[in-house]
Amino acid sequence: MLIDHLGRKIEYLRISVTDRCNFKCIYCFLSQNWKWLPHSEILRFEEIETIVREATKFGIRRIRLTGGEPLLRKNIEFLIERLNKISGITDLSLTTNGFFLEEMGEKLKSAGIKRINISLDTLNRKKFEKLTGISAFEKVLKGIDIALDLGFNPVKINVVVIRGFNDDEILDLAKLTLEKPLEVRFIEFMPIGKNHIWNEGNVVTVKEIKSILEKFEKLNSTSSFGGGPAKMFKWKDAIGKIGLISPISEHFCDKCNRLRITPDGKLRPCLFSDYEINLKPILREGEGTLESAFFSALKFKPARHPLNFTLRPMIAIGG
Ligand code: 5AD
Ligand code: SF4
Repeated sequence: MLIDHLGRKIEYLRISVTDRCNFKCIYCFLSQNWKWLPHSEILRFEEIETIVREATKFGIRRIRLTGGEPLLRKNIEFLIERLNKISGITDLSLTTNGFFLEEMGEKLKSAGIKRINISLDTLNRKKFEKLTGISAFEKVLKGIDIALDLGFNPVKINVVVIRGFNDDEILDLAKLTLEKPLEVRFIEFMPIGKNHIWNEGNVVTVKEIKSILEKFEKLNSTSSFGGGPAKMFKWKDAIGKIGLISPISEHFCDKCNRLRITPDGKLRPCLFSDYEINLKPILREGEGTLESAFFSALKFKPARHPLNFTLRPMIAIGG
């Protein structure tokens, strides 16, 4: 089993299936010289399936598909169907920008996705366009409603809070939980990539977020599916929940239960560390074993993450 010297048990694998995205979120895409990976570098579905099948032998139970935008990967539902058939996998989820849910939601559901995370950082149409570089606000809102209608459970909304940009909307975004059974999760802004817009000053800490929310009404603690890094809360009459995720102000590395795979097949022990193990030579040339790659990744999982800028932008790691 994948248990490291700090007793952290790894059972969660986040797999980025593409670095491409139809959005250009300012905190993720970073409008800099990231060149799209060539197709030959990107893991094929069979390779992802092989990795997951093997990883269940060491205790991986939960898979999340991310990107870039995972729904841009052609026939993604075929991959989902295959992963869903692997015994040992108990949870199959997806992180998306929500754009394609209108067209693809049903297919994803029947292929085996149980729950979905959707990014939404603002309720203001103009700001949305400025943030993402695409005029898709209504389409994403529709995608969220469709995800709820189709019965994905939970449907989580990821909000990256950036001071001076959307900190004035924290309360309004949280109020979505009064009307809809959503988990709205506020995430502290992280310096991933060569992030020229990040500085300590524009990180809004969860403490600050909580105090804004409690001015409206006291929050009660509650729980969330899967015991992820979010501290969960709920307003008394809300039907949804609020999550607070504090990678900056209060790291949760001691509870970290995950490894990541980048679209080009690098096993990455920590979001904040550029240490990676290339799985492609193992898969394509038979050099070494996946087992030894996973166990060495475990050794390189830092006890706590450094807060540095990384070589890869978020879009090429997997949000
Ligand atoms: N800081 C915090 N979260 C980020 N994400 C992407 N970039 C950042 C960043 N710099 C997360 C967002 C988004 C998901 C795909 O990745 O939550 O919803
Ligand atoms: Fe695309 Fe999500 Fe990154 Fe935005 S945050 S650019 S939607 S991958």
